[in-house]
Amino acid sequence: MSYPAAPALPVGYSFHAGYPDVPQYLHLRAASGLSAKTTSQAAAIATGSWYGCYITYDAPNESPLPIGMGRIIGDGGWYFHIADMAVHPDHQRKGLGDVILKELLRQIHHESPADGKPYITLFADKPGRKLYYKNGFVDSAPGQLGMALKS
Ligand SMILES: CC(C)(COP(=O)(O)OP(=O)(O)OC[C@H]1O[C@@H](n2cnc3c(N)ncnc32)[C@H](O)[C@@H]1OP(=O)(O)O)[C@@H](O)C(=O)NCCC(=O)NCCS
Repeated sequence: MSYPAAPALPVGYSFHAGYPDVPQYLHLRAASGLSAKTTSQAAAIATGSWYGCYITYDAPNESPLPIGMGRIIGDGGWYFHIADMAVHPDHQRKGLGDVILKELLRQIHHESPADGKPYITLFADKPGRKLYYKNGFVDSAPGQLGMALKS
């Protein structure tokens, strides 16, 4: 799969490397239907992630608003976990999730300094599954079963 360095976005949207600020991040997660996180949890994403990107909607006469994001938690060597794939419902089904995912994969494949094959994982909530399959992900089961510690 090829990953163009300058992803094409619909008119009115801009691409950024990095992360939405804490309030924007918490808002985007909540608006996208993802579980709520605390401010201190959110504060760690910018320092604890390997790479992240987000898309703003640049409405006339308003500050650009982050409406989509994704990030990678990883060691930069071989193990990369994709998290926080989220696009605000008002902006879904325009290809923005696909742009974000492809850029995350491009970073891993082309910008990581390590050689060798990367191991890329994610936990796929239902809304994202088609997008992930389309971009080359396969179910890890039955060979492996994703697990999360019961909270
Ligand atoms: C998963 C998620 C990030 C996808 O974001 P998105 O921007 O809607 O994704 P895309 O637009 O790239 O693709 C979604 C669909 O829109 C379609 N699409 C893309 N461009 C389109 C366009 N211009 N017009 C209409 N449909 C379009 C895609 O083909 C795809 O359709 P399919 O699912 O039937 O294959 C988003 O749905 C979301 O945030 N969901 C809630 C949070 C969540 O569950 N996140 C996943 C955690 S694992």
